[in-house]
Amino acid sequence: MREKKIPLILDGDPGHDDAIAWMLAKASPEFEIKAVTSVSGNQTIEKTTYNALRICTLLGIDAPVAMGLPHGLLSEPFDAPSVHGQSGLDGPKLPEPAMELSPLRAPELMAKVLRESEDKVTIVSTGAQTNVAALLLAHPELKEKIERISIMGGGLTHGNWTPAAEFNILVDPEAADIVFKSGVELYMAGLDVTEKALLFPEDFENIRKAGNQVAGVVADWLDFFYQFHRSLGYPGAPLHDPCAVAVLLHPEIFTIEDYYVEIETAGEYSRGATVADMRGFEGPVPNAHCLMGVDREAFAKLLTEAVKAYEGRRVEI
Ligand code: BDR
Ligand code: CA
Repeated sequence: MREKKIPLILDGDPGHDDAIAWMLAKASPEFEIKAVTSVSGNQTIEKTTYNALRICTLLGIDAPVAMGLPHGLLSEPFDAPSVHGQSGLDGPKLPEPAMELSPLRAPELMAKVLRESEDKVTIVSTGAQTNVAALLLAHPELKEKIERISIMGGGLTHGNWTPAAEFNILVDPEAADIVFKSGVELYMAGLDVTEKALLFPEDFENIRKAGNQVAGVVADWLDFFYQFHRSLGYPGAPLHDPCAVAVLLHPEIFTIEDYYVEIETAGEYSRGATVADMRGFEGPVPNAHCLMGVDREAFAKLLTEAVKAYEGRRVEI
């Protein structure tokens, strides 16, 4: 008998790698996607929400989609057109949304899902932590309904947007601080692992070979995402966000170390840094399972196999 599915909320600022993370989630029978929520980050909240609706239409995710907050809890909006383009998801043409946006805002839709779910719900958060923090602040009683939060964010040894800070944490450090102090079980896929989760042009072609519509779009997204990273000297496309989904399916392909991680919310040079106590002394109890390494081949295979689940699916573009 098949085990019960893991109820999932997908929260992100799509974004090419967010979209590929959602592709993996939808392709995996282990999950039941209960809601999709957008957050501001890669682009404005209007653009990331529109992208979320278009991705759900492409992939056949039929869960409610809700718009998140237009900026961080205490910070001004950010964007990253150099990475994801002006639309936040430049590259291949996508379908127009086939579904309506939920009338609820993201933290309220999350709260509704948690309240109504018989089982604890896992949140996969691949953008800033704004919505998750707003949920925890507004509905502390629902914390116990969260099984775990799997985050793409941070980096224990370095940043990417500044020398100290990774983009998602820098967009809303106060929100990340609330989440890391929440006591909820956290998986942190930071740059430590995600810059090793590289897909190379030959992987893109293997994905394209699956021959279905989603596989073609994913291969084109990878091409686009790689152009920017190649200009920075990366040998492949770092698939940051899919790590946050993959670890829920196959923790054995990752090297995971537990640390107490704090978020720098002040700091002249280090705002948004994830500071881990790696000294090995008796210290605070770890609050995060930190992904540090990955079997790259197994990770690439997981994504290459996942696109095959979309065989026979075709929407009008
Ligand atoms: C993170 O920033 C975004 O551009 C990506 O989608 C990923 O979530 C990597 O720093
Ligand atoms: Ca993202």
